[in-house]
Amino acid sequence: MNKPLLPGATLGVLGGGQLGRMMALAARRMGYRIIVLDPSASCPTGQVADGVVVGALDDDDAALELASQVDVVTLDTEHVPYSILERIEQTTPVRPGSAVLRTIQDRLTQKQFLDKLGLPQAKWAPASEDLTALAATVADLGGHAILKARHAGYDGKGQVRLDSASDLEAARGRIRHASAVVEEVVPFVREISVILARAVDGDIKIYPIAENVHHRHILHTTRAPAPMTGDGRTRAETIACTIARALDHVGVMAVELFELADGRLLVNEIAPRTHNSGHYTYGAAATSQFEQHVRAIAGLPLGDTRALSGAVMLNLIGDLWAKGPPPWQHVMAHPEARLHLYGKAAPAPGRKMGHVLFLDDDTDRALASAEAVLAALTP
Ligand SMILES: Nc1ncnc2c1ncn2[C@@H]1O[C@H](COP(=O)(O)OP(=O)(O)OP(=O)(O)O)[C@@H](O)[C@H]1O
Ligand SMILES: [Mg+2]
Repeated sequence: MNKPLLPGATLGVLGGGQLGRMMALAARRMGYRIIVLDPSASCPTGQVADGVVVGALDDDDAALELASQVDVVTLDTEHVPYSILERIEQTTPVRPGSAVLRTIQDRLTQKQFLDKLGLPQAKWAPASEDLTALAATVADLGGHAILKARHAGYDGKGQVRLDSASDLEAARGRIRHASAVVEEVVPFVREISVILARAVDGDIKIYPIAENVHHRHILHTTRAPAPMTGDGRTRAETIACTIARALDHVGVMAVELFELADGRLLVNEIAPRTHNSGHYTYGAAATSQFEQHVRAIAGLPLGDTRALSGAVMLNLIGDLWAKGPPPWQHVMAHPEARLHLYGKAAPAPGRKMGHVLFLDDDTDRALASAEAVLAALTP
C-alpha cells in the first residue's frame, strides 16, 4: 500500500495511555479521526479520541474489532502481543509491524538482535533458573548486576539489583519467577536518547539528542539538545539509524543509551514508539514526535525535526498528588513553562501523571527552574 492516508482517514491505536493521547491531539488537529483500544473508555487517549473499543490489549477479538474500524493501526505500548499484530496485518496495515515487536518486546531477543548488529551494549546473559548458575553469572558480570524480566517491564518494573550477597531466590520471587536476563551494572556518566522517525519510504529524520536523568528508575528530567561533541552525536545517531533500518521500522522510535566516562556509548534499550524523553518536541521542535508519528504511519513525508528552542521536561509523578491536586499556579508563574496533564483518574505513587516543559535556550537555567517548580509542587 503506497497511497498515503490523507486527513479524513482513521487511525487506530492499541493502548490508551498518554502517548496515544498526545498523538490523538496532534492527529485531530491535522484532521484525522482516531479510535483507541483500551480496557477503559475514559483512558487518557479515549478522552480525546473519536471512539473507543473497550477491551484488553491481549484480546484478539477486540483488536480485530478496532482494526475493522480504521485505516491503519499503531501502538501506544510495545507490550501488545506481536501475534495479535500478525492477525491484524492480514486485513489492515500495522505500523510499526509485528516483526518489530517480535524483536523488541522480549528483552532476550532484543539483546540478541543488538549483538547480531554488532552494536555495543552492557554485558548480559540469560538468567538461569538454577541459582548456583545465576550466582556464577552475577560474578562473571563483575559482582553487580540487574535482573530484568524478559517481558512487560516499564519504569524499572520487573527489575532487581543483584550483588554477590543477594538472596537470589528472593530476587527471583520479586519478579515472580519470570523468565529473565541479567546484565552488568553500567557505571554510566549520563543517559541520553535518540528520538528519530522513519517513513514508509525509508527516509529518516532525527531530533536533537536528549539527556535524561532518572530517579528511582523513572525518568525525572530531559534536557534537549543534550550538550555533546559532534563526534558523540554522530555515533549516537548512527547507532539509532542502524537499528531503525535493521528493524525496517516505520514511525517514531527511541534508542536509550548509556554514556561512559571514556565517551563510549552502550545501547540500553529500544522503544519502537514515541517516548517520554521526546515529549520536549511537543512545543520545542518544529514538528512534535506525535505529529511525526502520524505522518510516518500515514505514509506521508516527515516533518522538520529542528529545535525551535532549548527545552527541559520535568515529569510529574503521582506522589505529588499525595495531599490533593498540586498548586499549579507555581507552574504558571514561569511564563516559559507549559503544563501537560494526561487526564489519569487515579494518581498513584510512581505513576506518570503529566509533565512540564520549560522553553529556554539556557537549559541549565531551565533545569534549575524545573527543580524549583518541583519543590513548590511537592506536598
Ligand atoms: N545495566 C544497567 N546499569 C545501570 N543502570 C541501569 C541499567 N539498566 C537500567 N538502569 C537504570 O534503570 C533505568 C530503567 O531501566 P530500563 O530502561 O531497562 O527499564 P524500563 O523499565 O524498560 O524503563 P523505561 O521503559 O521506563 O525506559 C535506566 O534508564 C537506568 O537509569
Ligand atoms: Mg528504559
